[in-house]
Amino acid sequence: MATTTLNYEPMVFNPRKGEEAPLSAIQQEVLALKKERNAVILAHNYQVDEIQRVADYVGDSLGLAYCAAETDADCIVFCGVHFMAETAKIVNPSKTVILPDMDAGCSLADSCPAEKLAAYKQANPNVYVVAYINCSAAVKALCDVICTSGNAKKIIDNVPADRDILFVPDQNLGQWVSKQTGREMQLWPGSCYAHVLFTQQAIEKIKLQFPEAMVVAHPECVETVRDNADEVCSTEKMIGYCRDSDAEQFIVVTEPGMIHRLQREVPEKTFIAGPTDTCACNECRFMKMNTIQKLRDCLRDLSPQIEMPEAVRKEAYVPLKRMLDWSK
Ligand code: 13P
Ligand code: SF4
Repeated sequence: MATTTLNYEPMVFNPRKGEEAPLSAIQQEVLALKKERNAVILAHNYQVDEIQRVADYVGDSLGLAYCAAETDADCIVFCGVHFMAETAKIVNPSKTVILPDMDAGCSLADSCPAEKLAAYKQANPNVYVVAYINCSAAVKALCDVICTSGNAKKIIDNVPADRDILFVPDQNLGQWVSKQTGREMQLWPGSCYAHVLFTQQAIEKIKLQFPEAMVVAHPECVETVRDNADEVCSTEKMIGYCRDSDAEQFIVVTEPGMIHRLQREVPEKTFIAGPTDTCACNECRFMKMNTIQKLRDCLRDLSPQIEMPEAVRKEAYVPLKRMLDWSK
């Protein structure tokens, strides 16, 4: 049973009033370099607000993959984590793809090394592998189709009914989509280090403080958190859900960078960062490695760049292209 005592100050974002602050000198510098380089800046919803404000597009993994595939800019600056920038290179190989911090990885992607998946496939040659996009290019190259949190249901519904599915690397998203579709699947034992820190108890406690608030959670959260949420969806779908709902307050159970866009696009409502048992919010340390200074430097130097062997890229393109086609 939850107690009313919180051991942190809730992080509350009240309705936004007035104009946004003008862009800083370094943000202006980024925009000038972007023009000079004929670059497009793509940013994930978890990036810091300073970066989101200079991006051409801010969105979830699916929207960003489409943007990367369709851009005619010479250079894609990917403000997100490594697997996202790699995806941009896979779908649009003639472009220079740069990432502000090459160490911006992902614990979920790391939980499925390609050698382990290859060994599993060797022992189970008939398995149909569906990979959440949060995985390396080498893992994508071993898969039949990719999905994101935004299209997972649609993708699973398209998998031939007579095939046994292995879902990698996120057991939580896999379990969620299995429940949604009624399709049994084997789940790789991977997870996001940040999303598993949200607990049912922490959400129950914050709900006692904000009883009118709707709880919106990312499918990477554990089952007890998902089952007690009012909505479970991708970061992009959170925008539409909060905008269209009659509710005025939302507890946002994902990385708190999400709230920048929510505040910008749904300014009249209140957002509360989803807490863990010990903290008022739960930042992804990888997403937060990118800073406006590193963004400026990578545009100036056109470095660090994403590279991969062409053979891997070609193989990884097949399941990614299948995803882009199936989710249209
Ligand atoms: P979305 O595709 O829903 O933005 O999720 C990406 C991610 O890494 C969540 O942790
Ligand atoms: Fe990876 Fe989790 Fe960070 Fe998303 S929040 S990028 S899944 S570590």
